[in-house]
Parts: sequence; C-alpha cells; structure tokens
Amino acid sequence: MWLPGGCASTVLTSLGCRSFRSCVRVLARRACNTAAFMPEAAGFEGASSRAALQDFSVSSSDSFWSAVARHRLSWIRPFHTVQDCDLSRGRIKWFEGGKLNVSVNCLDRHVHTCPERVALIWERDEPGSEVKVTYRQLLEMTCRMGNLLRRHGVRRGDCVTIYMPSCPLAVASMLACARIGAAHNVVFAGFSAVALSERIRDAQSSVVITVNQGVRGGKVTELKRTVDTAVQSCPTVRQVFVAMRTENPVVMTARDVAMEEEMLKEDVVCEPAAMDSEDTLFLLYTSGSTGKPKGLVHTQAGYLLFAALTHRYVFNYHDGDVFGCVADIGWITGHSYSVYGPLANGGTTVLFESTPTYPDPGRYWEMVQRLKINQFYGAPTAIRLLLKYGDQWVHKYDRSTLKTLGSVGEPINTEAWEWYYSVVGDRRCPVVDTWWQTETGGICIAPRPSDPDAEIVPGMAMRPFFGIKPVLMDTEGKVETSNNTSGALCIAQPWPGMARTIHNNHQRFTETYCHPYPGYFFTGDGAYRSEEGYYQITGRLDDVINVSGHRIGTAEIEDIVNQCSAVAESAVIGYSHDIKGQGVYAFVVLKKIAEVQDSDLSRQLNDMVAKKIAKYACPDCIQIVQRLPKTRSGKIMRRVLRKIVERELDGLGDLSTLDDPASVREIIQGHSDLL
Ligand code: PRX
Repeated sequence: MWLPGGCASTVLTSLGCRSFRSCVRVLARRACNTAAFMPEAAGFEGASSRAALQDFSVSSSDSFWSAVARHRLSWIRPFHTVQDCDLSRGRIKWFEGGKLNVSVNCLDRHVHTCPERVALIWERDEPGSEVKVTYRQLLEMTCRMGNLLRRHGVRRGDCVTIYMPSCPLAVASMLACARIGAAHNVVFAGFSAVALSERIRDAQSSVVITVNQGVRGGKVTELKRTVDTAVQSCPTVRQVFVAMRTENPVVMTARDVAMEEEMLKEDVVCEPAAMDSEDTLFLLYTSGSTGKPKGLVHTQAGYLLFAALTHRYVFNYHDGDVFGCVADIGWITGHSYSVYGPLANGGTTVLFESTPTYPDPGRYWEMVQRLKINQFYGAPTAIRLLLKYGDQWVHKYDRSTLKTLGSVGEPINTEAWEWYYSVVGDRRCPVVDTWWQTETGGICIAPRPSDPDAEIVPGMAMRPFFGIKPVLMDTEGKVETSNNTSGALCIAQPWPGMARTIHNNHQRFTETYCHPYPGYFFTGDGAYRSEEGYYQITGRLDDVINVSGHRIGTAEIEDIVNQCSAVAESAVIGYSHDIKGQGVYAFVVLKKIAEVQDSDLSRQLNDMVAKKIAKYACPDCIQIVQRLPKTRSGKIMRRVLRKIVERELDGLGDLSTLDDPASVREIIQGHSDLL
C-alpha cells in the first residue's frame, strides 16, 4: 500500500440491570474556571461551572453552538443562521449560509501550524509494524486521491462507496471525497457481497474503492473478489479503485484502476470545494426494525463540530495525546472517533486493523505500551472476552500513558467495568461509558465532561453532553419528570451532529425518529434515570439487537432464514450472551415436507446469513418448533419467546391473546431439551 514521503517502500512490501451502588469517585485535578477548561465558553454570562455550562448549552442553545462553531471550525464563509429545526417534521438545518470544507478543517489548517505532527498511526495486523502518517503526508495523499476521483468523473454530490479495512488510504479516500464535495459511503469490510451490493445500489455509487485483500487476525480475506461479485448487480458502477494491502496480485478488469499507481500521477494540490453546511458529508447504513438497512445522512458542519467537540471533552483529549479508538472505520465509531473528531482537533489517531486476541490476548495493552496511547476507546464485548484470559496479559505491559478509558456500543456490565477500571486503568483512569448511535453522529450521554472529581457509577452513561437534553417518556407518551424512573429515551431538542434524513426515504426517517413522540427525537432505546439524575441505558425497545457491539435487525436475519427451502417461517430474537452481549436465537418452523437433519439446517442457515449479511449475524442457537406463538391477528409474540430463552417463565405475562397456548408449552419443552 502506497504512502507518500519515505514510507512507500516499507508499506509497498507489507501492505441489564446492574448495581448502582458501587460508586467510584474518580479523583483528578480540581475543576478550573470554565473559560480555561473550554475557551469558547469565555463569553457565556453566568456559565461559571461545568454544570452551569451544561445548562447554558441547552437553554441558550443558539448562543452556545454559534460560539463553538465559530471557534472550532474554519469557515470559507460564515453562517448566518445557527439553526432552523422542526423536530416534529424532521427538518434539521444547522449553520445555514456557512461554507466550509471538511478536509481543510481536518488537514490544511494543521499542516499550516504543525505539518510534521503525526495524524495517523496505522496499527497493522502484524504487531510492531505500525506506520505513521504526518498531517503533511495525509494532505498529500488526500489531494492526490481527490484529483484521481475528479479525473474519473466524480463530481460534487456523487456518492463513493468505500469497502476497505481501517488504513490510511481509507481515511485519505474519505477525506478526498470531502475535499471534492462527494459523499462517501463506507461499508464495513466484513459485510458480504450481497450486503455490499445492496448498499452500493441504494447509494447509486459510480465508484467503489477497495483493497486487493484484507488482513485481520492473521487471516487473509478476498475483498476485491467480494467487490467483483457485488458490482455484478450494480449497473451504476463505472470504476473500482484497488489499493494493494498485500503483495498478492488480483485479477484486474477494464473497470479496475490500480489506485496507488494512478495516485502517484496526480498533483499534490487539490482545490477544496466550498461546501454548504448542510451538504451531505456521508451516508452510513445501519439496521432498523425492518429488513432493509437505512442509509443515514450526515452533513458537513454540524457533524464535524459535534465529533470534534465530543472527542475533545468526553475523552479530555489534549494536543500531543495519542488517541486509540479500536473500532473499524466501517462503523460510526470509526467515523467520528478514529477519523473526523481527532483530525478536526489536530490529534494523533490510531487506526486498528487487527483483533483483540491476535497474536495473543495482550494485543491491546502491548499496543498501548508501544504507541504510548493516552485515551483507549473500545467495546465491552472485547473487554468481556479479555478478562476471561486473566490479568497477566494486562500486567505484562506498561499502561502508565493511559488517562481515559472509553466504552461504546452496548451496555458494559459491572464485572467488565470493574476490570477495565481496576486492572487495565490501575484505578487511575476514568472509565467513560459513552452512549450514542449512528443517528446521533457523536456521543450524547457520557460521564464526561463534568467536574473531574464528580462521581462515575459503573455501567452508567451518566450525564448528557453539552447541548443534549435527554427525556424519558412514559407509556402514555408523556415526559417523565421524576427521577428513579425508566422510560423511552428521547432527545428534546436538536443538536448539530444528528442525522438529517435517511437517503432516499425521508418518510422513513420521520416515521422512525420523529413521529413516535412528536416534537422529540426518539432513539429506540429505553433508559433509567437514577435518584441522582444519572442515565443508564436499559436496551433497545424495538427489534434491533446488538451482537458483539454490532447492530442488526432481527427482521434482516428472519428474511434470510425464511429464504431457506426447508423453512416455513421463523422468529429471531436476541438473548443474553456472556461475551457477545447478545446472541442470535432463531426459532424455525419447517415446511411439512422438509426432511432435513438439524446439523444440515444449522450449516445451511449459517451459510446463508454469512453470505447475505455477515458472519456476526449468524444464529448462535436454532430451535425447531412446530409453530410460533401468535396473537389471534397473526402477530408473533416475541416478548414470550424472549422470556422463554431468558428462563423467566414466571414473567411470560398475559397469554390470553395467544391464538394457541399449546405452542408456548411446546417451545418451553423444546428449549429445555436444547440446554
Ligand atoms: O442500543 C444502543 C447501543 O447501540 C445502539 C446504537 O448502535 P449503532 O448505531 O451501531 O452505534 C454504536 C456506536 C455508537 C444504541 O441505540 N449502545 C450504544 N452505546 C451504548 C449502547 N447501549 C448501552 N450503553 C452504551 N454505552
């Protein structure tokens, strides 16, 4: 894989419900005055503490965001209107009249002040073979890539699909799109050809960017081959750019472009497009409660500002720190906290290509020691896995550079939280359990920023970020005003980082997020607010589940399972899983004539799901049943199935609406036999 300025030769050859009681008071230096903590807050009358600043950011949202946007971003033309939003209609516009370029904000302005500062540390699969890319080099790569895209006809407003693992050329591709005004659509490189082609078609991309092969956990994956299969059903695709991650050649067709070779022919200067604040920056597909993934749309200024601000204040990131977010760039966490947030802040960010256990369970901590990581941001599923291997893998390495530990994507159980805090962080580093979503663009609820000596309760996301006003709704759709209560988590006023729409389907956007509680943004999650006013996420309220931190709609899996010739119908639910957080449990009714062995069925269904979605979505457990519990109107009672699998047989609830109560007895029996 080609990198500019001296790196080329190296790289070319290698290319529930938890206890709230065990509160931990994390002591750090005392709060200083607000303006010193947050320079843009200097002019805010009365916001003399961080708590007051939080109140101000919500009650005087325009003043807050206007000052922050002027301070944090470089504008080609200033905005004239801070916000023009109407949540009930799904109209969300921030910083109108403003023009800017996101790649200039992430690169050029830092190149002017510190060209040789390291922007990216590419932590490749092979430990000890990291590659550092400075801001000057990254700008050069981005410009060459921007020119290459322009030469191949990519114009402002087009959408480029990127199917690459985390690597500098993927970041340069994202920023190159931003530079020339094209949107990007990064598809996680673990998705199958079918899932990829669905996303390319929906985004109507004419260009796809990929690598010859991926390397992860010592295994090679044929990414270019997956793209070849995917684009067969994508008539819009004109070109596929192929970077070389390994030395192994791949078959190149007339449509394929050797990316590094062609980039070298391009100029290192690329005129940035002057983008409107509300032009699309990227689409990112995520799962909902129907079978079809939705392309959430994020726009330029508001998204970048929110990613930058949350990165700075939730993690307490300072100039010179090394930020280690281990999420893949194919997910929103990678977008906001491996790429846009850190780069907008002129930071040094790690791109992690490997797995937590390769070559051994000490990988993360050996990397922390070697790269001198200051903030580590990862998923509870990996923490749960690593704690099972024992403390010795952590103790082996020096973690004294660590200042903040972050958790994201799913609830972190108390045991994992305590281990992360005590063993990994030596009881020195605050653990920030950050709650947010692809839809929110950045972190909305987290223990920080707050006064540094404010308490953090294990397993609780705790406090809203600046400008975020969470509310809990009761079953009648009214706002719960008291504490020590649970409800549907909504956000009461717009914030700059929120998604603007679903690509090509604004109606689905408003129906999903704006209509359930008119005037509020509905997150799809449930939450608990403690006596002290702290938030804890209790889980999804819809049919979306979270497997190893990866979000997937049960309807998407059912759609595939139902395509199996032996299957008459199915119901898929999530259940508690020790490591993954949630596992996939499929109840399957076979066709009368079907003759199939259990093991064959399991193999068939797993193959189908892996082929049509991704491996992580494959059922962990398949139970063949005679019939599914349904209401008289034919609706599957998933609530009952969930209770059976969680062995909460006393809590099956009202079964009077069941069409055939015998179905439940049979399923309980079948489930016991499986255990
Ligand atoms: O259910 C919540 C869960 O992950 C969902 C969002 O998934 P996704 O869009 O893929 O983004 C994941 C990375 C931001 C949420 O609706 N979730 C996310 N963070 C937490 C969480 N659940 C509990 N605690 C969290 N900290």
